[in-house]
Amino acid sequence: MAQPTPLVAGNWKMNGLRQSESELQALEGLLGAGSDAVCNVLICPPFPILSRFADVAGDALMIGAQDCHTQVSGAHTGDVSAEMIADAGATHVIVGHSERRADHAETSSLVAEKAGAAHRAGLTAIVCVGETETERDAGDTLEVVLKQLTGSLPETTTADNCIIAYEPVWAIGTGRTPTNNDIGEVHAAIRNALETQFGDNGTRFAILYGGSVKPANAKELMTIDNVNGALVGGASLKASDFNGIIDAYRP
Ligand code: PGA
Repeated sequence: MAQPTPLVAGNWKMNGLRQSESELQALEGLLGAGSDAVCNVLICPPFPILSRFADVAGDALMIGAQDCHTQVSGAHTGDVSAEMIADAGATHVIVGHSERRADHAETSSLVAEKAGAAHRAGLTAIVCVGETETERDAGDTLEVVLKQLTGSLPETTTADNCIIAYEPVWAIGTGRTPTNNDIGEVHAAIRNALETQFGDNGTRFAILYGGSVKPANAKELMTIDNVNGALVGGASLKASDFNGIIDAYRP
C-alpha cells in the first residue's frame, strides 16, 4: 500500500489582509526552485482573500478554506458553500476545527455533513479531532478522539478526499505539546480505526498533528509513527517560520 503523502498545512484563522499576499509570495519563493521538500504545502487563509490567494498561488502551493456550509446555496446569511470555495480555486477545506466546535457549537454530525459537502464540491476535507485538557486529565483522550473521528466522517470518505488532523485543544496556541509517546498513541489509534473502517485503504489516509507546531519542534514531531504532516496555526503566518516547519520534510 502506498504511504500517505505528507502535508504541511497552514491555518491562518482570522488573520490576513490583502497585503498578506507578500507572505504568500515569500513562501512561494522559499518553495520554488531548489526546494526539495517531500511534502505537499497548503495555506488556508480567511475567505475575503481566498480567491486572490488561489489565483496567485503557483504549483508548489495549494489553497484551502477554514470552514464551509453544508448546503450548495440558499438563505444562509454569512455562510459560504463548498461549491463557492471550489469556484474560488481552492482544493481543500478544514472542517470541525476545535474553535468551530467550541465557538459555534459544531457537533460531529454537522462536521460530517460539512465534510460530505466538501466531497460533493470535489474538495479534500481536513477533518479535525482532539480532546480538551479536562478530557485528557480524566483519561478519556482515546475515547473522545475516536468518537469524534467516526462521527465526523461522511459515507463519501476515501483516503483521497479526506485528511485527519489530530489537534489536542489544550495544545493549540499554548506552546504546549503532548509527549511524543502520547501523540504516537493517539495517531496509532486513529490509524487502527481507519483500517477497521476502510480496510487496507486505512493506511493511505494522511493523519496530521496540530497544536503548537513550530520550526523548533517540527522535525521531531514529524518523525513520530503515523504522523503524516502538520496543521499549523500561529507559525504559519510568517513565511520564514512556516518554511522552517516544512524543513522537517527536507533532507
Ligand atoms: P497553533 O494552532 O499552531 O497556533 O497551535 C494550530 C491549529 O489550531 O490548527
